[in-house]
Amino acid sequence: MERGGAVTEIDERSLIAAARDAALKAHAPYSRFSVGAAVLLNDGAVVTGANFENASYGLSLCAETVAIAKASSEGRLADVIAVAVIGGMQVDGRPAGSDPVRPCGRCRQVLNEAAGIGRRDLIVLCAGAQGDAIERHRLSELLPNAFGPADLGL
Ligand code: THU
Repeated sequence: MERGGAVTEIDERSLIAAARDAALKAHAPYSRFSVGAAVLLNDGAVVTGANFENASYGLSLCAETVAIAKASSEGRLADVIAVAVIGGMQVDGRPAGSDPVRPCGRCRQVLNEAAGIGRRDLIVLCAGAQGDAIERHRLSELLPNAFGPADLGL
């Protein structure tokens, strides 16, 4: 839930848990790198996504993009306040490892669409598939001087 733009520690843990659950649904038979994303909305709802690869590799979609597209298609693009991203190489079909996964450049721009339409800087939590470590970022730090809706008059 939103409290002065912050996300409580409980929210952080549950958002990362939701991203970890989502990563189990990744369709990633080519890279064998499963990613899960969980987007927190301003009423506490959570929208998840997992990477969705394609045999034509370049058509693959990242987890964050899937989650933001889901939120948008539910009419909630302006309500996004935070996103948790986790991932890791598959071991026995499940993502493993504790290195944090950070959004790729394209996903940063996709996240910025939600930030711009919602007029708030997003919280971006990055974690591994396993472990307790959390990296906390702001989208404006990951994508400074971004091009966004405001540049087109929105
Ligand atoms: N991937 C994501 O889902 N999100 C990112 O931010 C980085 C990369 C996916 C894309 C591809 O399916 C796999 O991870 C390996 O690049």
